[in-house]
Amino acid sequence: MTAPLLDVEGLRIGRADGTEIVKDASLAIGDAETVALLGGTGSGKTLTARAILGVLPPGIVRLGGSIRFEGVELTDLDPEELRRLRGTGIAYVPQNAKAALHPLRRIGAQMRTVLRDLELADGDAVGKASLEALASVRIRDPERVLRAYPHELSGGMAQRVAIAVALFGRPRLLIADEPTTGLDATVQAQVMQVIERRAREAGASTLLVTHDLGVVAQHCDRAIIVEDGRVTEQRTVEGLFAGATSAYGRLLVEAANREARHMAETTA
Ligand SMILES: Nc1ncnc2c1ncn2[C@@H]1O[C@H](COP(=O)(O)OP(=O)(O)OP(=O)(O)O)[C@@H](O)[C@H]1O
Ligand SMILES: [Mg+2]
Repeated sequence: MTAPLLDVEGLRIGRADGTEIVKDASLAIGDAETVALLGGTGSGKTLTARAILGVLPPGIVRLGGSIRFEGVELTDLDPEELRRLRGTGIAYVPQNAKAALHPLRRIGAQMRTVLRDLELADGDAVGKASLEALASVRIRDPERVLRAYPHELSGGMAQRVAIAVALFGRPRLLIADEPTTGLDATVQAQVMQVIERRAREAGASTLLVTHDLGVVAQHCDRAIIVEDGRVTEQRTVEGLFAGATSAYGRLLVEAANREARHMAETTA
């Protein structure tokens, strides 16, 4: 068997004083796979995602475990090597994309910085690359968005800007942290279409952090469930629906079945 694209083993994350938050996370993602990371609020999804990327918030550290990407142990890389991997190897769409944008810089300037940092475009090519990227995530008036400040964008637009930026470097793995939370159903579908199309075209993989079982059913091949900092279930989405074994998995599937029954009854 070939090594998976991403292989996380025994990941432990916590506070600098040693208090553990993510206690033992092991998960793998293969080539051209879309995998859901599911779990209740505070279960450690965002910290796990950020640890994979090597960018934990201040005061939070990796206490142990291994993170291999394309066979390379990321925890051994120096900051410069990690920086080079970010964007092209692994890219991240943060939870609450709007808050992650710099509030006082126009979108165009922020996109330019990323393009330059990744050495993808410079000079005149920057504007063209930025417009193309915004068009690819279905932003209708890209010129206006380039001139806008983050507070002038709707949540759905900010989310799509963040996805456009994350896809600049054609990453082999995209980690999207709740990319559709808080968006209306139409925008949600558009955002998922963009993520899916890029994965299909590039044969790339996606780790999708979400609470939404509908998104999982429609878009994901496999699901990983975390509860209180531990991976408690990791299986195909079909398997999850056929019989979840973890407490949180069962809860999700039961809630989804209830909702489906309710829909059937009210539309009958
Ligand atoms: N910067 C931080 N400093 C201290 N504790 C933190 C920090 N970030 C997260 N935590 C704690 O770590 C735990 C896991 O947080 P994390 O953000 O990974 O949860 P999550 O599963 O992404 O939740 P949600 O679904 O609400 O986004 C939480 O109990 C949280 O309080
Ligand atoms: Mg989170």
